[in-house]
Amino acid sequence: MHIWGNFLRATSVLAAWSAIVFPAPVVAQTSPAVSYVNTLAEQRADPHIYKHTDGWYYFTATVPAFDRIILRRAQSIQALGSAAETTIWTRKSSGVGSGQVWAPEIHFIDGKWYIYVALGVKNEWRIRAFVLESSGANPLTSPWVEKGLVKTNWDTFSLDATTFTANGTRYLVWAQQDPSRSGENSSLFIAPLQNPWTIRGPAVAISHPDQSWERIGYKVNEGASVVQKNGKIFMTYSASATDANYCMGLLTASASANLMNPASWTKSRTPIFVSNANTNQWGPGHNSFTVSEDGKSDIMVYHDRGYKDINGDPLNDPNRRTRVQKLYWKADGTPDFGIPVPDGNTPVKLRSAANSGLFVRYYAGSSVPSGAAALADTQFRIVSPGLAGNGTISLESTSNPGTYLRRTTGTQVQFDAARNLNSAATRTAASFNRRPGLSDGSGVSFEASDAGGQYLRLESGGRLAFSGVGDATQQGQATFYLE
Ligand SMILES: *[C@@H]1O[C@H](CO)[C@@H](O)[C@H](O)[C@H]1NC(C)=O
Ligand SMILES: *[C@@H]1O[C@H](CO)[C@@H](O)[C@H](O)[C@H]1NC(C)=O
Ligand SMILES: *[C@@H]1O[C@H](CO)[C@@H](O)[C@H](O)[C@H]1NC(C)=O
Repeated sequence: MHIWGNFLRATSVLAAWSAIVFPAPVVAQTSPAVSYVNTLAEQRADPHIYKHTDGWYYFTATVPAFDRIILRRAQSIQALGSAAETTIWTRKSSGVGSGQVWAPEIHFIDGKWYIYVALGVKNEWRIRAFVLESSGANPLTSPWVEKGLVKTNWDTFSLDATTFTANGTRYLVWAQQDPSRSGENSSLFIAPLQNPWTIRGPAVAISHPDQSWERIGYKVNEGASVVQKNGKIFMTYSASATDANYCMGLLTASASANLMNPASWTKSRTPIFVSNANTNQWGPGHNSFTVSEDGKSDIMVYHDRGYKDINGDPLNDPNRRTRVQKLYWKADGTPDFGIPVPDGNTPVKLRSAANSGLFVRYYAGSSVPSGAAALADTQFRIVSPGLAGNGTISLESTSNPGTYLRRTTGTQVQFDAARNLNSAATRTAASFNRRPGLSDGSGVSFEASDAGGQYLRLESGGRLAFSGVGDATQQGQATFYLE
């Protein structure tokens, strides 16, 4: 069986008919590729990265000992991985704050820094959302003041507070045990904030763990985070126990809706981000959103584990680690989370310069599958050095790591598993010289490493092939933009 490389329209235009005659215009959803190396930080769960107007990225997360709040800062996302870590708060000997410390988030609100964090009481299963404030410019060095617990509708298990603004109102969203739903661990609640540590109640529940994928191990909705785009508010959250079943769901509301009305929020029927055996990523979740250094691409920050099976309570397994990857957007304006990408360099999409609706796509079998391609089938890691070494690169599938694009006899293109690339000749056939784009130097072209002048090219009919490049049309067909 051959595994062919080909092009396919990544999305088809949806005919969305409604009572109003004109469908909404399709907004261009492109942004440049990003380049990070995963994992970003070992043993840091529930990661939160905030890019401030001072040019620094700020990072905080749960530590495995559950005993303190840490902060890092750096001028790039990648540099957070090795940045010095400051402990800005440690567990107390008794009372509130003497138990477990979970999932801090750092926000900058009206000129001051705030940390939302769940604090427990020693020897009790009793955590509640708590707020700290700092007035200095640098929150790693300026003092922190305790503003206390957030008072909600009830005094029940609560955690994972986050905040966002919409239509000029600042909201708090958090996870809390709903007394009317016994046997469920936590639902998501929302309320406007009167000040950063006081809600204007009563809060309302906008999501309960009512889907089967939210009720595996424990019945959980937690770890909410908001990204806003295209007139919509997208709220991700995490569900089920914190083992390999942990996954993310999505709530969507119109930015012009009343966010305090639970009916304004629509829940995805299936999880939108789950474990992936091919990429060996397990239990992804508790995400946050930030933006790339150039401000052009959305970045999803989350934790997972690099193995599936855990002995004992997953909360006692310390190896949830912080990861980052690009958040893509579909042509209909909704986010495309894809799959947790493999460890190592983050992948890219390869958009054709000749036809901006086409991307290089991986698929198995000899005919193009019908339907839109899954994001991961259009993502490739640019492996450098390539399989043939010596300044070459190779293109590795993200949905099937260990599978590489290669030139076959003649000019054909197919994908081969690494185990089949076991001769110098086949490794060379899967290795290319990366060149500035032939039709546009801001793009990329791929020249066969053993056949100068032969380039990866989009042929008519959407097929990929290697061939010489003559005229301007062919140069465009041999040029790709990295997204
Ligand atoms: C979930 O709820 C069950 C039943 O109340 C409890 O035993 C368990 O510890 C809870 N788990 C978490 C992670 O909150
Ligand atoms: C948006 O804010 C305006 C001004 O405060 C208010 O009149 C309007 O009701 C708000 N819209 C929603 C959907 O909350
Ligand atoms: C790299 O180049 C050298 C010299 O041209 C050659 O001998 C060697 O086989 C090449 N290595 C690979 C892995 O292609």
